[in-house]
Amino acid sequence: MEKGKVREGDFEEVITARDIGQRVIDMGQRITQDYAGETLTVIGALKGCFMFMADLVRAIDLPLHVDFIEVSSYGDSTESSGVVKITKDFKHSIENEHVLLVEDIIDTGLTLNYLMEIFELRNPKSLKIAALLVKEEKQKLKYPISYRGFNIDDDFVVGYGMDYKGFCRNIGSIHRLRDK
Ligand code: IMP
Repeated sequence: MEKGKVREGDFEEVITARDIGQRVIDMGQRITQDYAGETLTVIGALKGCFMFMADLVRAIDLPLHVDFIEVSSYGDSTESSGVVKITKDFKHSIENEHVLLVEDIIDTGLTLNYLMEIFELRNPKSLKIAALLVKEEKQKLKYPISYRGFNIDDDFVVGYGMDYKGFCRNIGSIHRLRDK
């Protein structure tokens, strides 16, 4: 596949927009129950989380703050480099707050291991993970995933916020990159 060019036949749909929508509502309801009576700070890891985050917070019926952190992931590759860097941090303090860290997809888990370590140093009252997709196979995550959407195979996926070389984030369902 040429850089920057995405053709229709390169992908096949694996999770429909309808299934995502239903699952995200379920996750939001569980979060609402678990934090009943509390205020929540929901922090999304950009850029991939933006669509999931928008739907998830609308499914949570609690007073909440929304913020974002941006981390570098794979550049133009489909393989994890293991190198994680914060490229945009958030300003407000999470000390003594209930924090929910939202990730679009957990592949190796290296990004979240890094973010969780950093967040713990900021002394939140509690810290949990919500992830839409989890690739169990390669996972080295050292923390529990409190809210998960779907387990998926070890395929590269796009859509619903996730990209391939910067494209496909605006597709409403999730597609896997076909084997070449
Ligand atoms: P990890 O550190 O290997 O868990 O990778 C996490 C980040 O890599 C995600 O937030 C995504 O930005 C990106 N990523 C991992 N797998 C995929 C994929 O299949 N499609 C698109 N992005 C992915």
